[in-house]
Formats: sequence, structure tokens, C-alpha cells
Amino acid sequence: MCGIIGYVGPRVAREVVVAGLRRMEYRGYDSAGLAVIDAGELQIRKKAGKIANLAAELDHDPLADTRIGIGHTRWATHGRPTDVNAHPHVSQNHRIALIHNGIIENFAALRLELEAQGITFESETDTETAAQLLGVEVAKGADLAEAMRTVCGRLEGAFTLVAIDSTEPERLVAARRNSPLVVGVGEGENFVASDVAAFIEFTRSAIELGQDQVVEVTRDSVTVTDFDGNPAPTHPFEVTWDLSAAEKAGYDWFMRKEIYEQPKAVADTLLGRFNPDGSLKLDELHIPEAELRSVDKIIIVACGTAYYAGLVAKYAIEHWTRIACEVEIASEFRYRDPIITGTTLVVTLSQSGETADTLMAIRHAREQHAKVIAICNTNGATIPRESDAVIYTHAGPEIGVASTKGFLTQVAACYLLGLYLAQVRGAMFDDEIARVMRELADTPPLIQQVLDGLDPIKALARRFVDKQSVLFLGRHVGYPVALEGALKLKEIAYLHAEGFPAGELKHGPIALVEEGIPIFVIVPPQGRDQLHDKVVSNIQEVRARGAFTVVLAEEGDDEVVPYADVLFTLPRVSTLLQPLVATVPLQMFACELATLKGYDVDQPRNLAKSVTVE
Ligand code: G6P
Repeated sequence: MCGIIGYVGPRVAREVVVAGLRRMEYRGYDSAGLAVIDAGELQIRKKAGKIANLAAELDHDPLADTRIGIGHTRWATHGRPTDVNAHPHVSQNHRIALIHNGIIENFAALRLELEAQGITFESETDTETAAQLLGVEVAKGADLAEAMRTVCGRLEGAFTLVAIDSTEPERLVAARRNSPLVVGVGEGENFVASDVAAFIEFTRSAIELGQDQVVEVTRDSVTVTDFDGNPAPTHPFEVTWDLSAAEKAGYDWFMRKEIYEQPKAVADTLLGRFNPDGSLKLDELHIPEAELRSVDKIIIVACGTAYYAGLVAKYAIEHWTRIACEVEIASEFRYRDPIITGTTLVVTLSQSGETADTLMAIRHAREQHAKVIAICNTNGATIPRESDAVIYTHAGPEIGVASTKGFLTQVAACYLLGLYLAQVRGAMFDDEIARVMRELADTPPLIQQVLDGLDPIKALARRFVDKQSVLFLGRHVGYPVALEGALKLKEIAYLHAEGFPAGELKHGPIALVEEGIPIFVIVPPQGRDQLHDKVVSNIQEVRARGAFTVVLAEEGDDEVVPYADVLFTLPRVSTLLQPLVATVPLQMFACELATLKGYDVDQPRNLAKSVTVE
């Protein structure tokens, strides 16, 4: 949600900044802009729309070759996505250029105060308030870092700010509260950015900034203080992936590439987390076993796709640990006064580790003395840093806005946690845990098998390209898979889609069934209590009413054959592991359909990958 980058060093700043913005475009693409300092003056270019518009503007009206620059790609919150509202914003005295990610909640009062002092605003944004405040402070004689600290002390809300001062062409100053910011440390050059992807081409050494910190960056130095100017501790880390992981590698979309990366992503998530005897080792889980044994309730909080991964995990965690497990949408969690005690374990799922709703939920949980375990894909992000423990999902960078490998690896990591809790609490026999772990470890080649057989799904997308509505049905863990299949279609194909528990059909949704409506049904493996047969009955019910049924069932399931207009076979796995194979064709169906409709799969309208505002 907004990508920001700043650069100081020997390279041509505008080139570094635009390349960095392109790698962060997934964070927002309503408008983009950059600022440099040339001969003591700010130069700004900004354009509504995607970065391609900004690049065209730069071709038409080039910027000077400078050694300092800042840039921004926007996901609009305050003010429509116009050229004027695009960042950077400039102070009235033309000294400060500022970019911002987040929301300044008290901007209206600050704006009135500034207007009363004779300052005229150009834009409708909250950001311009901070730019003007910085302008006022430097005009009083403060240096840029002092000005930043003073201004941050006055701002409420969430913000990452990066500013340059036209009188100081060698230095940029950034600050953060609640929104992400990392520093990239190069040789004779330094970077700041929302995400390491922006500078991975140049350096893999990074520093994660903490809450309420200000960083001054020159080409040779990085100085971090708190908002009072005291030296602050930093968290250096090395990025473990390289540029190729952040590029499309011949695929048309990042999303498609990420779908195909899932066997490796799941394998990497499981890697090194169990012993040869099949028992689990989660060395990173620095919560004493006695505390894990005393847990009497688990609450999973997450948003979007991660929430659906949580819904899948609930079935497994309750089954294995016998601990009651709730799953809650993070944005609802703290506003309903949830019952949390010192023996509640909150598990938060977040690919980015920056989702504001999820962050606020875990802060609330910790205030109530719950222990919080983060399952996260982004090293050093805010959510894992503010949690008691973290299990990283090692999926590599996920750039397509619609999450795919994020989902599968979150499910896999939740399963590791569930089995570990069962192990610590003695809720399962050792050989049972070893058997499930073996089965889990065997899933990556099965996911590959699904990927190798996706041609029928692609043909299906061609057949359904003009449909107005698609339904998904599932039971047990197949129900969240149905929800995820529907979400993917909404997100990238802008198609009305709903997921339902198949058993609930007769209580309302069946009224939606009309001639020719496509209905995907995820059929549980055969031979597991009555679930399979009940779903087969549900398929017959919708088919009798004219639905076109697309049935996903395990290989060898002959019972479904008469009722499937199209049958997609899944490898044989146990019920709880079926989401790891059944979700994949649904992801690909959405990707294909959106591609056929001519939509931008990686950057769907109105969405952002990392939603850093509540
Ligand atoms: C956004 C994205 C979704 C994602 C959700 C949660 O809404 O568009 O694809 O599932 O955020 O993201 P997280 O990074 O917390 O997993």
C-alpha cells in the first residue's frame, strides 16, 4: 500500500528510483512520482496512473542526472488519484519534497493551523500537511532531521515519511510509525524503501527500522535515532533471495509464476522442521513448552487469503490438539471485545507481515496478555517483530497482488504449528505425528502433479469467459478452499463469485442456481465418514437444476463421474491435506480467466498487496 524509495549515491538517482518503483508497483498503482535536487532546486515529476505514465512523462520532460532522489507509487486514501494528489508533495517555500505511506489521522486540524499561518495547499492529501510542517520547521533554522523529529511528534496515525531538502543535496531523512521502512546498505550508496525488492538489485544488506525511528541517510552513513534524537537500536539483516526471485522469469504474470513456485515454496516451508524420526523441531518458537501446554484457546487472526488459510488450519489444529480454535477477520477482532486471557494463544497469518488490521489485532491481543505467534513470509516485518514468536514461511517474494503461494505455505506452517502443539501437549502419539509429517513432506511432488495437469482448467476458462457468476462448493476443509477459489475470481477477474459450504446450499444459495451457471465442487476424499457421499448428493442437486458442474475429486473416484460435466482429478491425499492440492486449479482458473478478459492480473483494480492502513 504505497511504495516508497529514496536513493543517495553515485548512480543516476532517477533511474534507480524508477526501477525501484517498478518493483514495488504491486503496493499501489494509482499514481507515481519522483523528486530530485538539481543545482539547489527541487525538480518533481508525477503522474496519475501506473508507473508507465510517469516513465512516459520523464521521456517527454526529462529530469537532470542527480545523485539523490525519492519516489513514490500510490494507493490513494485521502484525495483522488490525480496528478496533483500524487506524491512527492512540496512545501510552500519549495525546500522540502516529501513522500508518505500511511494515513495522518489529525491532518485536518494541522491543515487548518497551517492555513491560518498563510500556507496555501495544492492538494487534497493528508501528506501535504507533513510537507508543509517540515517546510515551516526548516525555515525556522532546524536541520532536516530535527525538523522530521519535531513534525513526527505532532503527527497521529500511521506513516513512513521520506524527505529531501533542496539546500542539502547529499542527505535524505526518513521516519516511520506503523508503516514499513527498510534501509538498503550499499558500498558508497544507500537506499530506503518500503520493501527490499526496491533495492535488491544493488544490495542484499538491509536494516529494518523500528517503531518511531528517524533515519538520516547519506551515501556513506546511516544514522538512526528515536523521535527525541537519542541513538536507537537497529536490526541489520541479509536478504536471502536475489533479483531473479523478484522477476517474472519468462512468465506473463507474477501470479502465474508464483502458482508454479508452490511445490518449492511448500517444500522450503517444511525444510529443516522435523527430525529423521518424524518428530517436529520448531527452534524458532521461543515460547516455553510449559506455556504452550497451558494454552486453552487458540485464536487465528488474519485478512483476505490468509484468513481462509486460517479457516483451513482450524480443522487440523482442533483435530490434532483438541484445543478450541477460533478464526477471526483481523479488522473485526479488537472491536468486538474478544475474550482473551493469559492462556489464549493468538496465531496471526500474514504474508507481508505489514497488514495494518492484523498488526492492530495482535497489539490488542498482547495488551490482554495473550501470547502471539506470527506466521509470516517477510523477514523482519512489523508483525513478526511485535509477536512473541514467528514461524517464517520461506515462500520467497510474492509480488502478484492475489496471494497464491502465500496461502499454501500458510496452511503448511499452520499444520507444523498444530502438530508441534500436539507433540508438546501429548495430544497425539509420536507415530501419528510422524505419519502426518511424512504425508505433509510428500505433498510438493503432488502439487507439481496438479500443476502438470492444468490444461483442462485452461480450456474451462475459455469456455466460461462470458459467464456472469460462478459458485464454489466445499465441505470441511473444502469449504475455505471454495471461499478462496471465489475470492481469486473476484480479485483478478472482477467476476461475481461465491463460496458456500455444500451442506448449506439448501438453506438459501440453491436459489441462485440457474441454467448453465458454473459450479465448482471440491469433493472430499472417498472413504472418510459420510462427507464424500453427501457432497456427491449436493452435486446432483445443483445439476438437476441446470448447473454446469466442475468437479474436483481424487483420482479413482468413480462415483462422481456421472455428475461431473467436467472432472478434474486430484492426487490422493488425506482430507486435511487436500487444500494443498485442491486450491491450485482454482488459482489457475482465475489467472486464466482474467488473462482472457484482458485484465492486469498482477495489479487488479482498487487493490494493493500490502494494506498498511486500517
Ligand atoms: C490484501 C491482499 C490479499 C491478502 C491480504 C492479506 O488484501 O490483496 O491478497 O490476502 O491483503 O495480506 P497479508 O500480507 O497479511 O497476508
